[in-house]
Amino acid sequence: MPSYSPTEVAAQYATERHLRTRIQTHERYSVGPGLEATVDRLLALNGDEAVLDVGTGPGDFPGRLRAGGHRGRIVGLDFSAGMVARASEQYPAVEFLQGDAAALPFPDATFDVVTARHMLYHVPDVAAALAEFKRVLKPGGHFLAVTNAAGYMAELWEAVAEALPDESRFADIRGSRQSFATAFSEMSGVDQVRQTFGNADTEFLESVLVFPEPEPVLAYLNSIPAIQQLPDLDRENALSRLRRTLTARTQGGAWRVSKRVVFISARRQE
Ligand SMILES: C[S@@+](CC[C@H](N)C(=O)[O-])C[C@H]1O[C@@H](n2cnc3c(N)ncnc32)[C@H](O)[C@@H]1O
Repeated sequence: MPSYSPTEVAAQYATERHLRTRIQTHERYSVGPGLEATVDRLLALNGDEAVLDVGTGPGDFPGRLRAGGHRGRIVGLDFSAGMVARASEQYPAVEFLQGDAAALPFPDATFDVVTARHMLYHVPDVAAALAEFKRVLKPGGHFLAVTNAAGYMAELWEAVAEALPDESRFADIRGSRQSFATAFSEMSGVDQVRQTFGNADTEFLESVLVFPEPEPVLAYLNSIPAIQQLPDLDRENALSRLRRTLTARTQGGAWRVSKRVVFISARRQE
């Protein structure tokens, strides 16, 4: 089940603003092993591969590869024209294109590596996107999906459910747990990848966000579409109720929110 309709996904990612808030929250408050080191180890790039990053957002991953000396072709593709414009501005040495994961604008067997990082939970037809990833990979090419595992940030969503327990106007906020956590996780994702590629390997990364105070958690929550879309008064009401709950949670100065990420790798065999 996709987390949002294509129109909602387009609105959510029209610009990098809200996504950037969430990325920065992870950068500032994460403790434990970093995601990028695992990506690098699993991809084991030699620097000459042609790489496609689908759902690239503001292009940080392709930008990092190029800055690290990658010589091969690197393409970042995103559904959002705003993201593509921002990515091109930030990382002019990378090729960025607007496009849909389920209809990739490339000939068969173009890339050695295709990555889809934190994006498949937004795609309405995951099987179609996976078939496209396989089609554009060269035989022997490597596909890597990165996504949230089931139970991702469970403590945060439990606090949200406690702060906003029953009113229907806040149902979408409580329901956002599904979109961010489980729409494409190891529970459904591994089988789907295996069905397409005939093989799939998984690896998990456990880390934790440690929040000293409510503000960064409120900023994170305020970036999600279900809160952004509320009328002003409802949003203020939701945020003040969340603030009360989060103030209690962070009283000890180090509220821990666990996050478990899954890496799903596959090879195009023929
Ligand atoms: C959560 S962001 C992840 C961005 C980046 N990969 C990262 O890990 O920071 C999801 C991105 O996927 C893009 N996206 C959603 N559906 C897509 C689709 N069908 N085809 C291509 N991109 C899509 C969104 O526009 C958004 O930029």
